[in-house]
Amino acid sequence: MTALTLSTAAAPGLRVDAIVIGVAKSSASKASGPVVAPGAEALDQAYDGRLAAVLETLGASGAEGEVTKLPAPAGFKTPLVVAVGLGAEPEKDAAYDAEALRKAAGVAARALAGSKKAAFALPLTDAADAGAVAEGVLLGAYSFDAYKGNGNGAKDEKNGKAPLAEAALLGGKPRDKAYKAAIERATAVCEELNRARDLINMPPNDLDPEAFAGIAQAAAKEHGIKVQVLDEKALTKGGYGGILGVGSGSASGPRLVKLSYTSSKAKKHLAFVGKGITYDSGGISLKPAGHNETMKCDMSGAAAVFAAVVAAARLGLEVNVTGWLALAENMPSGSATRPGDVLRMYSGKTVEVLNTDAEGRLVLADALWAASQEKPDAIVDVATLTGAMMLALGSRTFGVMANDDAFRTAVHEAAEQVGEPSWPMPLPEHLRKGMDSATADIANMGERMGGGLVAGLFLREFVGEGITWAHLDIAGPAFNEGGPFGYTPKGGTGSAVRTLVRLAELASADELG
Ligand code: BES
Ligand code: MN
Ligand code: ZN
Repeated sequence: MTALTLSTAAAPGLRVDAIVIGVAKSSASKASGPVVAPGAEALDQAYDGRLAAVLETLGASGAEGEVTKLPAPAGFKTPLVVAVGLGAEPEKDAAYDAEALRKAAGVAARALAGSKKAAFALPLTDAADAGAVAEGVLLGAYSFDAYKGNGNGAKDEKNGKAPLAEAALLGGKPRDKAYKAAIERATAVCEELNRARDLINMPPNDLDPEAFAGIAQAAAKEHGIKVQVLDEKALTKGGYGGILGVGSGSASGPRLVKLSYTSSKAKKHLAFVGKGITYDSGGISLKPAGHNETMKCDMSGAAAVFAAVVAAARLGLEVNVTGWLALAENMPSGSATRPGDVLRMYSGKTVEVLNTDAEGRLVLADALWAASQEKPDAIVDVATLTGAMMLALGSRTFGVMANDDAFRTAVHEAAEQVGEPSWPMPLPEHLRKGMDSATADIANMGERMGGGLVAGLFLREFVGEGITWAHLDIAGPAFNEGGPFGYTPKGGTGSAVRTLVRLAELASADELG
């Protein structure tokens, strides 16, 4: 990952490959051109105060995502200036929004792939801004190349450029506690988030449930997190019919991983539950061609939970966080669960499997019930659960459902604070009867309309009585099939990691519910 430093050095003397500055759309009148954001004063002076005009000549408008490169002026040791768009200039006396800084830093970091060191002179008003720029750089510079070239991730001409190696943030206060803490926080969170992306991007022939469990075990040991792995034998003994039923068609057996981070100062206990289908073929209800190429991403929820628990430990948050990774591979075979089979779940309820492609809710049901046994203050599950949620909210926004209105709002607001688009969704009672089964207590499918909400209603049945619960359906934002944007790369995105970390931070400060 890119190495970060806070620097007070003056821009002209910096021996770096590039200096990054911000350019915004003027809020004054439509006729006026782009404006240079604070932080680039020395550079503007070197251009005799004409930097905005120079940028306009080069076609810059200040729009979000825009990159304009120009040669550095005489007197500067760096050869290159990268002007990155920040979008609309804030109102007079207002600061640039943290998410605008995060995105711009991400775009610039990606544009600087192949460079060794860059200085970021973006407008910082406080430590939180420095944290946002740090996150943008660390997340935007990400690339997944473990499977390219000679197989050890080495880069060459043919296989693209190596990520930006070093970034110095200018305009911060290197000796200020709050700035240092913001950089440390960004580093811990983004390192874990990028690891979640690696897991999502890993091909499913290399990341099966056993391999994922092994990686979680090693990381837990490293960070003083208690870890327990239930293998097929233990799952059978414990009666985890949902996880076993989904995993039964695969040559790679399922696992349930429990990660427990505890703090001696904890006042609250949160449980995070992640859907970890290392590959979703659909099972006997096989997905058609065109719908399965990206289904290695179906463990994104478990990856997010794993990353968030490790980040909480690294940050030393004063909250107990238990992570549950429900890992299985959904494959068709002679031993696979059939449409029509009835599973006896860990909770004791029976489920008629009408469609083996609705497998996420089956593994989550067992993990939710397991999490409930510890009576945490709240449970949050994260899952690439339904195509219906993608149809409803598009590919960048996750849906938030809950059995408690205030908690749903708290989760939505936590997501907003960290720059993750989300939207509250209802759990309409009338959709429950569509899952009535002639044979079992409930079926794993209901009405097609509102399929994302039907899935949420199914999960609700497996949350322990009186426990506050929220469900994040990240089917849309978990995996970016388009080109990179902002600090989001192509492929695995690490969706929900920052929201979960934020929830743990709020609980740590006793500000959650
Ligand atoms: N993993 C899929 C949902 C999904 C689809 C995630 C596209 C990411 C992108 C899930 O297991 C699934 O197959 N859901 C079915 C449920 C249906 C059979 C009730 C769906 O959404 O079609
Ligand atoms: Mn499925
Ligand atoms: Zn799935």
